[in-house]
Amino acid sequence: MEDLKVVIGSDHGGFHYKESIIEYLKSRNIEYFDVGTHTRESCDYPEIAKEVAKKVTSGEFSRGILVCGTGIGMSIAANKYRGIRAALCGDTYSARVSRAHNNANVLCLGERVIGEHLALDIVDIWLKTGFEGGRHKRRVDMIE
Ligand code: RB5
Repeated sequence: MEDLKVVIGSDHGGFHYKESIIEYLKSRNIEYFDVGTHTRESCDYPEIAKEVAKKVTSGEFSRGILVCGTGIGMSIAANKYRGIRAALCGDTYSARVSRAHNNANVLCLGERVIGEHLALDIVDIWLKTGFEGGRHKRRVDMIE
């Protein structure tokens, strides 16, 4: 597996899952950095998406995880940054294939949409799955 360094962030709508995912990362000894938010107070998801996107595109972190109420705002915002391939996943198959075929480097989740245990399974699979390359690399390169 690649050397995983994960940068994670959420708005208030994804705060609880962010904290749970951090517990998961700690339990697996996966290096991470939490860009916030650090309270349940209302905040603006584009600011958080920007922080995570910048840390992934700079190469400082290999993967990013973003959580908001639906995951939609975070994925729209993150995908504005060149080099970011953010995948909003609500099932484990999409999580696996977003890595294997799309080489997604940011995972987006919706706390108000999926259950917490499913979210943690998605994170687990997404972090463990590698990019298959080959024909998929050609297609990803076409996006870039
Ligand atoms: C916040 O209420 C909510 O709009 C946000 O968490 C997210 O769902 C946006 O896409």
